[in-house]
Amino acid sequence: MATVTPQVYRNYVNGKWVDARSGETMASMNPATGETLGQVPASGPEDVTAAVSAAKAAFEKWRKFPAPRRGEILYRAAEELVRQKEDLARLMTQEMGKVLAETRGDVQEAIDMTYFMAGEGRRLRGYTTPSEMPNKAAYCVRVPVGVVGVITPWNFPMAIPSWKIVPALVCGNTVVFKPATYTPLVGIRFAQILNDAGLPPGVLNVVAGSGGKVGDVLVGHPDVAIISFTGSTSTGLAIAETCARLGKRVSLEMGGKNAAIVMDDADLDLATDALIWSAFGTSGQRCTACSRIITHKGARAGLTERLVARAKSLRLGDGLDTKTDVGPVVSESQLESIHGYVEVGKKEGARVLVGGGRATDGSLARGSFYTPTIFDNVRPGMRIEQEEIFGPVTDIIEAASFEEAVKVLNGVEYGLSASVFTRDVNRAMRAIDDIFTGIVYINHGTIGAEVHLPFGGTKNTGNGHREGGIQALDVFSEWKAVYIDYSGRLQRAQIDKD
Ligand code: UN1
Repeated sequence: MATVTPQVYRNYVNGKWVDARSGETMASMNPATGETLGQVPASGPEDVTAAVSAAKAAFEKWRKFPAPRRGEILYRAAEELVRQKEDLARLMTQEMGKVLAETRGDVQEAIDMTYFMAGEGRRLRGYTTPSEMPNKAAYCVRVPVGVVGVITPWNFPMAIPSWKIVPALVCGNTVVFKPATYTPLVGIRFAQILNDAGLPPGVLNVVAGSGGKVGDVLVGHPDVAIISFTGSTSTGLAIAETCARLGKRVSLEMGGKNAAIVMDDADLDLATDALIWSAFGTSGQRCTACSRIITHKGARAGLTERLVARAKSLRLGDGLDTKTDVGPVVSESQLESIHGYVEVGKKEGARVLVGGGRATDGSLARGSFYTPTIFDNVRPGMRIEQEEIFGPVTDIIEAASFEEAVKVLNGVEYGLSASVFTRDVNRAMRAIDDIFTGIVYINHGTIGAEVHLPFGGTKNTGNGHREGGIQALDVFSEWKAVYIDYSGRLQRAQIDKD
């Protein structure tokens, strides 16, 4: 790959491109090559404060800007995203490593969300309902809340910011966005496209920097009404604590330990295709990644043989190379954390069937590559079966029955995505009833959620909110109930019944 000239990006505050007040910058690196891709401001508390003030000042006008017209701006942004899709995908592959097919998908997910929410500008539906009283109207409407702080991860550098920013804007809120420390360039480009589509100054601000210097200040700022966060469970729970103390609304998307059940009547070739994609796509760095494969004992041998053969055939490399199946993991520290889990798994008595180490052949040595890894002899309760690894590592766990498989699937602290492979419709329906996750797939892997359905999970995956779908609007709006009495006299609800 040709050497790239590092690009210099800036914060966007109150309609202007600005450096950090301190003048400090930080680098964004390409994990496939170790090269510096760009520089962004290493912002601090004063940059966050300036952005929050701008967002607060812009709110009064923006909340009165008609929602259909907010939607029109989003529509124009979506059109521009379509035009820039290839360029954005290439930048994203360089910034966080996943292969081009997947970064195109990430940009497409942002396009889908932006079109979807543009349409919501003409809906944002409340409802009318009869009153208990004659000559009295009753209805309810959504109203915006204020300034929204958006804190996002690096694994979906454009899709996840879009899930938060775009519904927040269409509802009439203003936003301060902190892109992930590993993927600020893509985050800034996304915000630029939204702003260039016609958002008034101060409505969408971007402040790049670390969690400690930017994220924490945003969370603790009294003028930020809502925090929407996707990332690790430990960070999310710490954010929730601060928000609880400040009486602030918070929406959290955190860890997953997603599983697929493969029954003895399943189409094993289909299951193999789907599970290889779910376990090793994005190098396993998805909240929805399949990190546990619970196989009925009757399917175990056939499935294991197929999975191992396929995992061995995956080609690692630079994501810009169209022959690459699996790109690097995002950083050296992430690679060390993944490898730490592989060592834990071995000590716990699980067996590595394929992978299990860093890949260093040829040019792979320059980047952070980890070989797709499959463990078998994994038992429920092992740490590698319970904890999120966030890398290209999956477990094979045997179950003697369907009931046992469902119990193992549900036996973790998370509840994001689940999948079941079976040809028995009765069993599929029972699985849908008994699996306690936010997303269930039948005869499909654990990844691939679509933007117009609710996305999120049960238990420690989240705190009861959903992104995507019209459900996302609930995070970014308050309900206002309106009563209009046109009787011309006092009518007492609950009391004047006759
Ligand atoms: C994530 O990993 O946090 O369903 C998001 C999927 C994608 C989104 C994943 N549409 O895998």
